[in-house]
Amino acid sequence: MTAEAAILPFPHRHLLGIEGLSPLEIGHLLDQSETYVEVNRQAEKAKSSLLGRTIVNLFFENSTRTRTSFELAAKRLEGDVINMSVATSSVKKGETLIDTAMTLNAMHPDVLVVRHPDSGAVKLLSEKVNCAVINAGDGSHEHPTQALLDALTIRRRKGRIAGLTIAICGDIVHSRVARSNIHLLTTMGARVRIVAPRTLLPTAADRFGVEVFTDMREGLDGCDIIMMLRLQTERMHGNFFPSIREYFKFFGLDYEKVALAKPDALIMHPGPMNRGVEIDSDVADDFGRSAIREQVEMGVAVRMAVLQILAANLPSTDPRNL
Ligand code: NCD
Repeated sequence: MTAEAAILPFPHRHLLGIEGLSPLEIGHLLDQSETYVEVNRQAEKAKSSLLGRTIVNLFFENSTRTRTSFELAAKRLEGDVINMSVATSSVKKGETLIDTAMTLNAMHPDVLVVRHPDSGAVKLLSEKVNCAVINAGDGSHEHPTQALLDALTIRRRKGRIAGLTIAICGDIVHSRVARSNIHLLTTMGARVRIVAPRTLLPTAADRFGVEVFTDMREGLDGCDIIMMLRLQTERMHGNFFPSIREYFKFFGLDYEKVALAKPDALIMHPGPMNRGVEIDSDVADDFGRSAIREQVEMGVAVRMAVLQILAANLPSTDPRNL
């Protein structure tokens, strides 16, 4: 770390994951995001902190909300955004991840936002390029901006994160959202529970510093936050549960299970939701208790903050020109 970097509140070139970030660094990202929530609620939303910067969204996996959210965030800061989806790129012609990255790198982007189906692929790519890299989800590893937007939603609704009991429920083993949230919420002093059928729990789940439950009634008992996860069937090879009906009966969130949590417990889901699979439709749409739409709103603010902070950390002269 250079002397200059040492005084930065977020002294990192990339945002590859939440693991390893300090409470102060996470707090700084959340505070900066908070300032953009108000900006986004005004008719005039543009701020020019990314003027002249190029942001490339490089998505090797399908995405609606995350990609749109990053695009909107960059545009609200007046950055130039290019969306590259694999369906139309030369990856389909057999180009490797690294070749694609090197080609884009030669065009001098400032920030690459990358989603990839393989855990670790985004870190590998970040080692080959000169720009800042944001992990928009790598396999079942990490999805740091999702955890930040969840934390911002919780902090705004509950006034704090420390001391809250947060139950993360469902397909934990395949979920990068669960992994990033576990790192963030435990680092910020929350009590985290993971609740899932045994087949959807990671091996050695207790090593994550969380409490592990295989029964929703016990896992939800007295909690402040219920965070539901999508069943990631696209990452499943084989049978992980007998049937959708049975899964919903034991692990789907309906009002009967909601009643086990605190009366003011907040319901969250990163989306996309499978209604009637992991969450009952009425529960998902319950305006008073569900924060699902607010999570989407917070996503734009968080991505504005992360883009702005990483762009500001870039050296003013591109080392390739020296
Ligand atoms: C999550 C993802 O892609 O990991 N969704 C998202 O970012 N909005 C969760 C999921 O796909 O279930």
